[in-house]
This record gives sequence, C-alpha cells and structure tokens, in this order.
Amino acid sequence: MLTLAHISDLHIDGGARARERVERVAAYLDGIADALDALVVAGDLTEHGTVAQLEEVRALLAGRLPVMVCPGNHDVVDGRAPFRRVMLGETGPQERGEAPVNAVYRLDGGAVVVCDSTVPGEGGGLLSEETLAWLEDTLDGLGRTPVVLGLHHHPAPLHLPSVDPIALQEPDRLAALLSRHPQVAGLLCGHAHTPAATSFARRPLLVAPGTVSVLPLPWEDAHRVTEAQPPAMAFHILDDQGRMTTHYRTVPPQEG
Ligand SMILES: [Fe+2]
Ligand SMILES: [Fe+2]
Repeated sequence: MLTLAHISDLHIDGGARARERVERVAAYLDGIADALDALVVAGDLTEHGTVAQLEEVRALLAGRLPVMVCPGNHDVVDGRAPFRRVMLGETGPQERGEAPVNAVYRLDGGAVVVCDSTVPGEGGGLLSEETLAWLEDTLDGLGRTPVVLGLHHHPAPLHLPSVDPIALQEPDRLAALLSRHPQVAGLLCGHAHTPAATSFARRPLLVAPGTVSVLPLPWEDAHRVTEAQPPAMAFHILDDQGRMTTHYRTVPPQEG
C-alpha cells in the first residue's frame, strides 16, 4: 500500500500570504508524516521561478517527508535550469540545463513517476518527445509495479473556463501510452487550482487544490471562492489491488 499527500500551486512570490499558507500545509504534513509515504507537489511551486522563490519554497517543504516535484508553467518562465539547480540540487557537471524534469521513485507499495509537462515561457502544457520516450521506457521497466503518475497540466477538460484553454495539448499521445501500461493506477495533476476528480484513459485523474487559491466555476462568486477558502490537499491511497482512493481535506489552522 502507498499513501501519498498531494498539493499543488503554492505560487510562492516572496509575499506573506502565499508563504503563510504553505507554512500551514507543511507544518500539518510534518505532524502526520509517519502515516504517509511521500508528498507529491504538482507544480507552480513559485510565481515566477526565480532562484529566490525556488529557494524559499524548497526550505518551506523541507521536512520529514520525501518530496516529489514536477515543475509548473510558473516555475520555468525563463527555462528549467534554475528549477533543476535549486529543487533537484544539480550543480557543476551534474547540471542538465533545459532537460525536462522527469523522475521515478520506487517505494514499497508502488512507484511514483513525475514528468514534465511544461513548455518554458508558455502557460499551456505539452509532453515533449523526450519525455514521452522516457515515460514509455520507465513504465516498461517497472513491469507490473503499480504506478501513480504526476504531471502539472490536466490532460482532460475540467469545465473550468480559466484553465481549460491552457490544459495539456495532444493528450491523445499520453492516452495511447497509458493504454500500453495498465499498471498506471491514476494520474495526479495541479494547474487548475481546484479540488477536482475526473477520468483520463480510463483511470482516475485527480487534481490537487491550489494551495494559494481556488479558481471559481462559472456559477460561483469569484471573490468569495478565491479569497475565502483555506488551503487544502489530497490524500491518495493506492492499495494492493491497484485501486486508488482519494480524500480531499482542508488544512486545520496551526495550534498555538
Ligand atoms: Fe498555478
Ligand atoms: Fe500552472
């Protein structure tokens, strides 16, 4: 069994509001870390992807839990190199510059695969040829190990007008890849700033709430939805039958 916490869209910008919300989430997760296997952060950790913002968010998320990150469009405004240096700790000869940020983590109850759906400088997403080839090889190599796949951009429409135009482009290529890999139990996304669930390639597609804000549906009051909601997160349990179960939670205020 694998138990994951999943957050997204922290949008650390050097200001107090975003920072306080991330502190609240991080402190809560650290307190329950013994019950969790890892924290998946599905992108837009920062507002502009500057070194200062990336260093701030890395420090905020440094706790007892292993942290698995995929970049979001806001994190790679000027390219992937700062994200790689700060979030992955690449230095000197290890630096891979603009290469997509793809990673696989093998854990006791399954594997977490995170891949890079960003197109640096653009809001919308696309899986590059390099990432698609890496994903195919990686999933082939994992055999029957159940997999949770994380990426920033949602590959299916969420009926949310502010983000559907900047969803993942060419989602059929990912769907075709997944059809060859039935061990992928579900997909975790961010980008849309809404706790939402749908399906993609016959698998659950689970969107993390935006830590910084919630984007309103057309019939919701934008001011009340965006400003009034506390930060939230998802917990995903991948059981031994390969079924994913998800609970969404708002984060309690810190004690004291
Ligand atoms: Fe975002
Ligand atoms: Fe985004």
